[in-house]
Amino acid sequence: MDNLWTIIWDDTLLTGVKELDKLHEAIAGNANKIYAICINPGTKEEEIIKLAGFLKQQLMIHFDLEVDFYKKNKLLCYERHVFLHQEFKDELKKLDKLNMPIIVKALMTNQIALFYLKNHLIEEDKKCIKELKNKEV
Ligand SMILES: [Fe+2]
Repeated sequence: MDNLWTIIWDDTLLTGVKELDKLHEAIAGNANKIYAICINPGTKEEEIIKLAGFLKQQLMIHFDLEVDFYKKNKLLCYERHVFLHQEFKDELKKLDKLNMPIIVKALMTNQIALFYLKNHLIEEDKKCIKELKNKEV
């Protein structure tokens, strides 16, 4: 199942750094779960909201852990990454202030997570990991 609301977790999304891959995969799993429970006729709104809240927390923690990892490894991509992650954090924080149904905010959280995985991970995270691997050689 891959559409605007889900992501198929496969090898193209792996960075090769186990701790980051584990976190990315968990984020993908929860983003997919939000969609899965949305299309379940018996779904309770609270269930979706609770999971979106968890996903948001998970993303926030991940953004910090990932830049710490790049910093620890003294990668040049670190500063750009801090900036890019801050943009994602700001987007997530902005959701709290928007005047719209909480269920829509939950789906927007899913969208931010998927955008992160489908775009940022492929274009930015992989560049950093390439830099790390080049350093190790
Ligand atoms: Fe990143």
